[in-house]
Amino acid sequence: MDSIAFRPIGIIHSPHKRSEEIPIQPVYAGGIQGRAELFPEYADGLQDLNGFSHVYLIYHFHKTTTSRLIVTPFLDDSPRGVFATRAPCRPNAIGLSLVRLLRIEGCTLHVEDIDILDDTPLLDIKPYVARFDSRADARCGWTEEVDEATASKRGLRQHGRACGDA
Ligand SMILES: C[S@@+](CC[C@H](N)C(=O)[O-])C[C@H]1O[C@@H](n2cnc3c(N)ncnc32)[C@H](O)[C@@H]1O
Repeated sequence: MDSIAFRPIGIIHSPHKRSEEIPIQPVYAGGIQGRAELFPEYADGLQDLNGFSHVYLIYHFHKTTTSRLIVTPFLDDSPRGVFATRAPCRPNAIGLSLVRLLRIEGCTLHVEDIDILDDTPLLDIKPYVARFDSRADARCGWTEEVDEATASKRGLRQHGRACGDA
């Protein structure tokens, strides 16, 4: 198949300047604020978004230089298939973060719980809709083997591993 080219619709700004210091999911980045700044030509697309408390930011892991099919996720020490993880070093370096939408000012979305590097190219925004996205019977594979204390320590990068595949 031919390659597909996306053009960013904006830039994500956050206090995170170094990839290896960023919490590994929004749930471990509680209260950390950032901004998704849309390019003005997309402003009309923000209409009606302010009624949503959470949005998915979809973006390019622009600082990822490698792609692997087997990775060691940050949460765990066992090698896993990349598609069973959220590791950035994927064949298509696309990130997905569910963040809290604080407010919209013009073309700027002020968000919270951000686990994204400053200056990350934004590809899309989608609203979180509990009716569509929440699953009471979800199974969560190998992640269920990781107890919550370990998960939060690792998610907050407090366990001392220098740099994993995340
Ligand atoms: C495990 S990934 C999860 C990201 C997202 N929540 C997801 O599930 O796709 C989180 C890590 O991605 C890395 N990261 C964030 N923004 C990045 C970027 N623009 N380029 C490369 N790596 C990035 C940081 O090291 C962060 O700790």
